[in-house]
Amino acid sequence: MDDLKPWLKATQKQVDSALSRFLPRESARPQTIHKAMRYSIFAGGKRLRPILTLAAAEACGGDIEHALAPACATEIMHTYSLVHDDLPSMDDDDLRRGRPTSHKVFGEGMAVLTGDALLTQVFIVIAQTPATKRYSVKDYVQEIADTGGSKKLIGGQVLDLEGEGKQLTKKDLIRIHEAKTAALLTCSVRLGAMTANATPAQLDALTTFGYHLGLAFQVIDDILDVTQTTEMLGKTAGKDEAVDKSTYPAILGLEKSRQEAARLTKKALGALAPLGKKSQRLEQIARYLLDREY
Ligand code: IPE
Ligand code: IPE
Ligand code: MG
Ligand code: MG
Ligand code: MG
Repeated sequence: MDDLKPWLKATQKQVDSALSRFLPRESARPQTIHKAMRYSIFAGGKRLRPILTLAAAEACGGDIEHALAPACATEIMHTYSLVHDDLPSMDDDDLRRGRPTSHKVFGEGMAVLTGDALLTQVFIVIAQTPATKRYSVKDYVQEIADTGGSKKLIGGQVLDLEGEGKQLTKKDLIRIHEAKTAALLTCSVRLGAMTANATPAQLDALTTFGYHLGLAFQVIDDILDVTQTTEMLGKTAGKDEAVDKSTYPAILGLEKSRQEAARLTKKALGALAPLGKKSQRLEQIARYLLDREY
C-alpha cells in the first residue's frame, strides 16, 4: 500500500469536488445562505469523516464512487455541528478552520440558518446513495438521522453544555465523547461499509473500530486544545480551560490522557483484524490520527 499522505491529499480533493457538486451553487437565491454554506464547508478541515467513509468502503471491497454521497453527507453534518458549536450561545468561538466563524462573518441569525440548511442538505445528499443487496436508501437515511439526533450528536452537545463548570467523572466524559464525536465517526465508517454491501460481521468490526477511534479522536482534540497553538489548530487554543470544560487533560492530566488515546487507538486497530489486508488504509489513518498535530 502506498504512502498515506499523498492518498489523503488526493482523497480530500476528490471529496471537495464531490461536495461542490452536492451543494447548491453560490449564485442560487437567496445568495447569502448559499454563500454561507459554502464558506464553512470550504474553509479547510481535515475531511476525516468522508475519508473514513471511503476507506471503509474500500476495506469491504466496494467502489469508492458509490460511497461519495454518504461521505459528503457526513462532512456536511459535521460542518453544521461546528457552525452551531461555535455560536455565542454555545462555545462562543471566533475562529474555525483558520477563518472567522460563520456568525462573525454573516451574523448570528444567519449562522443558525446556515447550520439548519446544512443539516437539511445532509438528507438531500444521503438519499442519492445507491442501494445494495443488503442495504436500502432507507437504511442509510436511518443511520445518519439516528447519529445526528437527540440521543447521539445533539445529546452529546447537550451533556457537554450542561457539564460546563462541573466536576465530571471519567465515566461522564466518556458518555459525552461517545455521543458528540464517536457516533459520527462510527456512522461514517458504517455508511461506507454499507455502500460496499458489507456482511454483518464486517459491519460489526467497523462499528467497534469507529467507536474506539472516535473516542481516541476526541481525547486528542482535548489534548491539542491544551498543547497546540491557535495558528496550528485554526481554532482558538486553550478554550476548554477558559470556559471550565471537563476534558481528559483536566481530569486525568496530559500524560494519562496520551496513554488513554494510545490505548483506544490500539483497540480500534484490533477491531480491524477480521477485515484483513483491505483494511490497511483504515489502519494507517488510525495511526496517523494518534500522532496528529491539529
Ligand atoms: C473538530 O473536528 C470537532 C471534534 C469533533 C473534535 P475536526 O478536528 O475533524 O475538525 P475539522 O473538520 O478538521 O475542521
Ligand atoms: C465539538 O466538540 C463536537 C461537535 C461539534 C459535535 P468541541 O467543542 O471540542 O470541538 P472544537 O474543539 O470546538 O472543534
Ligand atoms: Mg463544543
Ligand atoms: Mg467547540
Ligand atoms: Mg475541542
